Amino acid sequence: MKKLFLFFITVLFSFNFLSAQSEQTIQLKDGWKFKVGDNLDYAKPGFDDSQWKGIQVDKIWEQQGYDPLDGYAWFRIKIFIPSSLKNNSFLKDSLKIFLGKINNFDQSFINGNIFGINGKNASANTVIDTSFLNAPTILWDYNRRYTLSVDDPRILWDKENVIAVRVFDQGGQGGIYTGNAAISMVHISEYLTLDYGQVPFLFKNKTASKSFTIKNTSDQLTINGKFIIKAENKLNKKIIYEKAEELHLKPLSTRNFSFSLTNQDQSSYVNYIFEFAHNKEQVTFKEETPYILTPAPFQKAKINGAKVYGQRPNKPFLFTIAATGSRPMTFDAVGLPSGLSIDKKTGIIIGSVSTKGEFKVTLVAKNKFGTAKRELKIFIGDQISLTPPMGWNSWNVWGLTVDQEKVLASAKVYKEKGLMNHGWTYINIDDGWEIVGNSPDPKRDANGNILCNSKFPNMKALGDSIHALGLKFGIYSSPGPLTCGGYTASYQHELLDAKSFALWGIDYLKYDWCSYDKIAKDTSRVERIKPYTVMQDALKKIDRDIVYSLCQYGMSNVWEWGGSVGGNLWRTTGDINDTWQSLSEIGFSQIENAKYAKPGNWNDPDMLVVGWVGWGPSLHPTKLTPDEQYTHISLWSLLSAPLLIGCDLTRLDDFTLNLLTNDEVLALDQDPLGKQATPKIKKDNIQVWVKDLSDGNKAVGIFNLGSESQKYSLIFSDIGIKTNAKIRDLWRQNDLGSFKEKFEIVVPSHGVVLIKIF
Ligand code: GLA
Repeated sequence: MKKLFLFFITVLFSFNFLSAQSEQTIQLKDGWKFKVGDNLDYAKPGFDDSQWKGIQVDKIWEQQGYDPLDGYAWFRIKIFIPSSLKNNSFLKDSLKIFLGKINNFDQSFINGNIFGINGKNASANTVIDTSFLNAPTILWDYNRRYTLSVDDPRILWDKENVIAVRVFDQGGQGGIYTGNAAISMVHISEYLTLDYGQVPFLFKNKTASKSFTIKNTSDQLTINGKFIIKAENKLNKKIIYEKAEELHLKPLSTRNFSFSLTNQDQSSYVNYIFEFAHNKEQVTFKEETPYILTPAPFQKAKINGAKVYGQRPNKPFLFTIAATGSRPMTFDAVGLPSGLSIDKKTGIIIGSVSTKGEFKVTLVAKNKFGTAKRELKIFIGDQISLTPPMGWNSWNVWGLTVDQEKVLASAKVYKEKGLMNHGWTYINIDDGWEIVGNSPDPKRDANGNILCNSKFPNMKALGDSIHALGLKFGIYSSPGPLTCGGYTASYQHELLDAKSFALWGIDYLKYDWCSYDKIAKDTSRVERIKPYTVMQDALKKIDRDIVYSLCQYGMSNVWEWGGSVGGNLWRTTGDINDTWQSLSEIGFSQIENAKYAKPGNWNDPDMLVVGWVGWGPSLHPTKLTPDEQYTHISLWSLLSAPLLIGCDLTRLDDFTLNLLTNDEVLALDQDPLGKQATPKIKKDNIQVWVKDLSDGNKAVGIFNLGSESQKYSLIFSDIGIKTNAKIRDLWRQNDLGSFKEKFEIVVPSHGVVLIKIF
């Protein structure tokens, strides 16, 4: 598994009830033996594995002395399976062999007979071939849960059984690694699925409601019990909702449930509890509810987005006025430098300017409720990307399954859902548009020009459609021969590729290190800088401004030199995924690089993981809780980080839209001073990050990294403020009043209070 694919995927959409603890479980944690290589005899129960080494199944094999190791290896374990296991179980129909996650592919055998392939049960007569290798890479994150009927002759009751697992690792990390392998009987709760996690809450004012379904997936069993929905206030734990109902779920039947919670101005904990009739055993699932803080935009016209904009002389100019308010709306821009003109219907400003200089332009947006004016400073000079790019990128949602339709659909949502009225501008294709490196098809034409795969039949036309909407168009490549996903990349064709990009109307290039590892002579800074200067030179030779995004995960402190190779932004870490661990480790470690962020040069802690994500064909709602998502957007804005939405925009729910359209929060990110916040206080689990703003005030994020909500008193002198501060709550967009020496609040666990101090 490529390190670069370390994203997080949930393949299961329904939230299956966990096995209850009360029934017997045979742990398969210890006792495994391991052999590198491949031989089908290893599956045979009589095979002599006495010379094999022991191995743990709670960590990848690279961490156990096998680094590097890609390709085949076998795991074997001998285990006694007593018939008491089934006799003592409430359900006596199936045995479950759970192996946890396997990186990447597996064929699993019991007593010489295959029983599972890549997470799917296999019948004893399945042909053993290598087709199991033609499977999606994302299987590395998929639990292997196999079941066998109790009367299946492959199981030897009251005897020793040999389980053998043939593992194939595609690259990078490998092995059985989650450490929760076990044998047990299938528990009744495993026949229940609850899809609440896939169904977003709908909001009306502060009432959040949802409807979801419980399904009995067994075709034989009736499930009897009581279903309870119980919600409590996240901060004070008071019960705010409780409802119980008797359930008799016939085989394969479903039941719908709905409930509403009023006054949701913070998260509540909702417990979904199923109590089984036969033994009163309870299984519980929890979720935290979303809550909407961003006020709906006024009907009156209001101008949002960047206040400064840079372009080089004689390069195509495109800037669209971002304005909320009811439509129809007309636009104007007074004082435009010569060479630029505005389309008054759309607010799109185009042209090109030949003279260097600073131009103060008054943007105007007008509707029947009023007229808004705001100054935009246009700098025609050497620097572009004067504020961090705001856009959408295909990777965190579609991975390598991106196609032209998905890209266009995102661009359309920008307009339909009004995202562009808040400054969202770029529509970026990540990896997966090129021809696959190992395909027999030509990768380039006779002149060496890079070819697109069939999912992108006409890149120029796609660019034109995106530009026609007033949006900008981004693309992805790598300095090595192949991209991270194994597609054709720019090595030794840099200028030709830059020219193709210009021809297609590309405005943004993400340039991802990956296979350049094989070209670089060593790991020195010089070698790491080299390929980025090659593309820099190529980009200088074309007649377009292209925002240059370096992606090399922070190697050799890229923030110290990224600007010198023309980088407008540079990734500072490995890939993000939609877990609190990933988000908090990345977000709260952006400290050392802070002083290198400035207009034109940004630290990039990777893209956003809110909304429906998935890195491939199957998507899931982000695993971050609502408070974690508020933390995500608040922290990234304080950090002046590039904001690249990584979700399915056609599936935006009310809550996610609220996260992405708060103009006062986005204004922190787009602040013209371009100063990155730094932590001023770290105490217990509280971190206070402070950002200096161009208007002389400060934005302050008070984050709670702990698992309990916490009272906190911000003492102004601790963050360099003398006394008497006026405070505004940025998410709620309301003034909280004046405070003398301190400001007292409760910060939800993993959440934030984001304020501006005047
Ligand atoms: C790397 C990058 C990701 C994405 C993929 C594409 O992992 O860090 O952001 O671009 O490559 O293959």
